[in-house]
Amino acid sequence: MFEELEKINERPEPFQFYTASDLWTDEHTSKQMLSFHLNEAIDVSSRNAEFINRSVEWIASEFNIGRDFKIADFGCGPGLYAASLAKRGASVTGIDFSKRSIEYAKEVAAREQLNSKYVNQNYLEFGTEDRFDLVLMIMCDFCALSPTQRKGILSKFHKILKPSGSLLIDVYSLSAFEQREEAASYEVNQLNGFWSPNKYYGFLNTFKYDEEKVILDKYTIIESERTRHVYNWLQHFAPEDLEREFVEADFLVKELFSDVAGTPYDRGSSEFAVIANKT
Ligand SMILES: C[S@@+](CC[C@H](N)C(=O)[O-])C[C@H]1O[C@@H](n2cnc3c(N)ncnc32)[C@H](O)[C@@H]1O
Repeated sequence: MFEELEKINERPEPFQFYTASDLWTDEHTSKQMLSFHLNEAIDVSSRNAEFINRSVEWIASEFNIGRDFKIADFGCGPGLYAASLAKRGASVTGIDFSKRSIEYAKEVAAREQLNSKYVNQNYLEFGTEDRFDLVLMIMCDFCALSPTQRKGILSKFHKILKPSGSLLIDVYSLSAFEQREEAASYEVNQLNGFWSPNKYYGFLNTFKYDEEKVILDKYTIIESERTRHVYNWLQHFAPEDLEREFVEADFLVKELFSDVAGTPYDRGSSEFAVIANKT
């Protein structure tokens, strides 16, 4: 028992394990995630409907979206942005490794006859000959990636963007990092049965890596037949640090905002968004 508790409370190296698929593609959790995406009132999995509408309006006007405008949406979920952008005439490719979300997005696209294509794949492994005017990665997915994965995906974005293409992503800020505390908690059927339909004991250990500006929410889920560890990594950025990564990947940061709905940049905001162009 003591040794088990030691393992639960063990602090890994930053980004030592990548378990994103356990969170998003598991048969049970993906069902919960889809219902969060589709709940228009909350900011879990996707942001609330009012925000998404405002964001789509802003993206459409900022990038002058119309016919023949090609968008790649990395981590598109059930296509809430992709479908709305396709309705404005864009041709949208959404990539997501959640089969459940992609099936939902495909159903909407077929029903509404949208010019969109959905790929059910890990976006770290995605490749295409298509070239895009705009690449999106929305709701801080970039922050879940290790420095090596971020370098790889920025290089992929660079490759698939047209010479005049742009990248729009959002990330967690240092202000959000300051607000987090290390903590440990335990609960039966933690998060209202989110992790399993069966009875389980859920531990949540939150670790703060001050030097790297990383937060880890480490979940340990103990069922009668199995024990899982799910690592939710959240890199937080100063604008200068993000800009350095972009410059190394041959991107030029054009403008910062507080969110992907075009709210003017404020250093105190818990997230910020960036438009970058290829250099
Ligand atoms: C926080 S949600 C955001 C969804 C969408 N961008 C939105 O804002 O409505 C992150 C999405 O990225 C997907 N995802 C996370 N890691 C992924 C990976 N490595 N490959 C493909 N999809 C991934 C998840 O399945 C999920 O749909």
